[in-house]
This record gives sequence, structure tokens and C-alpha cells, in this order.
Amino acid sequence: PKPNVYVTRMLPKPAIDLLKEHFHVEINPKNRVLTRDELLKNVQGRDAVVSLLTDIIDEEVLTAAGQKCKIFANYAVGYNNIDVAAATESGILVSNTPGVLTDTTADLAWALLFATARQVVAADKFMRLGQYLGWDPLLFLGQDITGKTLGILGSGRIGTATAKKSIGFDMKVLYHDIKPNPDFEMAVPGSQFVNKETLLKQSDFVSIHVPLLEATKHLISDREFKLMKKTAILINTARGPIVDEKALVRALKDGEIWGAGLDVTEYEPDFESELAEFDNVVILPHIASASIETRTMMGLMAARNVIAALNDELPPNCLNPGVLNHQR
Ligand code: GLV
Ligand code: GLV
Repeated sequence: PKPNVYVTRMLPKPAIDLLKEHFHVEINPKNRVLTRDELLKNVQGRDAVVSLLTDIIDEEVLTAAGQKCKIFANYAVGYNNIDVAAATESGILVSNTPGVLTDTTADLAWALLFATARQVVAADKFMRLGQYLGWDPLLFLGQDITGKTLGILGSGRIGTATAKKSIGFDMKVLYHDIKPNPDFEMAVPGSQFVNKETLLKQSDFVSIHVPLLEATKHLISDREFKLMKKTAILINTARGPIVDEKALVRALKDGEIWGAGLDVTEYEPDFESELAEFDNVVILPHIASASIETRTMMGLMAARNVIAALNDELPPNCLNPGVLNHQR
């Protein structure tokens, strides 16, 4: 019989079609995230699972999947939802979808930057409500973008792509990471590596591009907001828990920063309700990689990782390649 692959939520059709060419494929029929119980039940007896960033893949789930399971192919570049060490222990491969969503995510960081700086969303809502009574010199005054300083936290693929796109806006680019990144500096001529404090103090826009790890949880909290300019805007297209959301609400209330553009929130799908009260805040439902092309490529990439794993080959985007020797 064909190997049995479980997909935890409907993906773009080309990805499902590719999986179906090779495998017996079962997909969560509901248009929602699986409950914990459903996840534990549905991973049982599968040769491979395609998981989403909303599925917590921990030891219990890996144990439920059992010996037969070769791979959890995550449909995301971020993999903080998967206990990779536990997967390695269990002899299960893990893969992600790096590279294909880099520019799409960076584009959305810019969409948030523009939308927040110029209050695009609140102004649109104002029009729709019929509140525009004629041109007003004081209506929806925002922040300039051209010529300002962009601070990039995290100099990986997405941070680099976001910084690169600033070139037409004559911006000064500062970046911070655990160490200087020559590739970033090559891609963004004139960019400067600085410590976190300097970046926070000098940037007009601070854009987050680090993965969520123990060390990056609440990377931006009370202390950081106090260091930032009162006119600064925080952009988060990475993971919600990197920002202390209660501290963000307080910083906005106290005028410690000017605004925030968020594609991710601390407890998705929930967010601090007070955030919705600010015209200078834009909140989106985790759509940074959501273009038709990119979501299709992510699906094909996850499918190719499954195909490789079930052919006893190294998946192209494997996060724990050591497992393969063990499986053989
Ligand atoms: C989306 O958040 C991803 O990690 O791909
Ligand atoms: C994060 O996933 C990055 O590549 O910057």
C-alpha cells in the first residue's frame, strides 16, 4: 500500500496534488486548527505528517505518532512549534520552508511600516464611516519614512530582505544580531552593526526578524520601550511572544513609542484588546507569507520534504539530518 500522509489543515491545491501523486493523503476536513485531542489521534499510524505553526508538536505528539512516522514537515519557516530535540530523540525528521517566503514576508513588513506610519487603516475606516467632512490640515498626521533610520533586529534572510527594500527611501540602516553579519552588510551597503541599546535609541522604525527561542521571548519589553524614541514605530512580522504585549500597550499609552505594526500577537489568535483602541496600531492575522505564489511554493516544499523522507533520502530542508543514519 501507498504510504499514509496526514495534513493538519487544507493547503494550496498544487501541494495536495503533489502529495497525492505519491501517497495516500488524509487532510483535516475542518476549516480550523485541530484540537489537541484531534492532533494526538490523527498523527497515529502515519508515515509522515505535514504540520502547521499552530500545531504544538511536542514529545507527547511525537510519541503518539510512533515508530512508523518518518517526518514532520512543517508548513512554515519558523519551527518554534516543534520540539526538534525530542523529534531527533524519537528518530523523526523535521523540515521547514525557508527561502521561498523571504521577500513576501519582507514586503509585508513594509506594508505594516507604511500603514502604521501613515495611519492608513484608521484613515480608511474613517472614510468608510462617512466621517470625512473636508480637507483638514490636522487630519491623520503620521510619521515620515524617507530619510529616517531603520533598525533591524535579526540579520537572517528576512531581516536582510527587509533592510534591502529601504534603499529607495534613503534610510540609514542599523542592525543587531548575536554577531556581525558580512552578508547583511554586503546586501545593504552602508548598514551598521550596533548593540541592541544603540539600535533601540537611534531607530525610527524597529523591525523584528529573529526566531522565537527562550532567549528571544520578550526581547522587547518595558526596558526596551523606554530606550526607544517617542516617535518610534515597532514592526513585528516574526513571532508574537518576542514582544511583551502588556508592556507594548503600556508603552503606547504612556507615549514611550508612537506606534506598532503587528502581523503576529503574543497569544494568537488573541491579542491585548486595548491595542485595537490606537489609530497608530495596525494588527494583521499572521499573513506575512500569504501570497498565492508563496503559499503554493511553501506547500510544494513541504511535499518535497515528505517525498524525500519517505524515499529514505535527506529532505532538502531538514532541520535534524542526523536522524537519517539512525532511521537506516
Ligand atoms: C510563518 O510565520 C512562518 O514561520 O512561515
Ligand atoms: C527568519 O526566518 C529569517 O530567515 O530571517
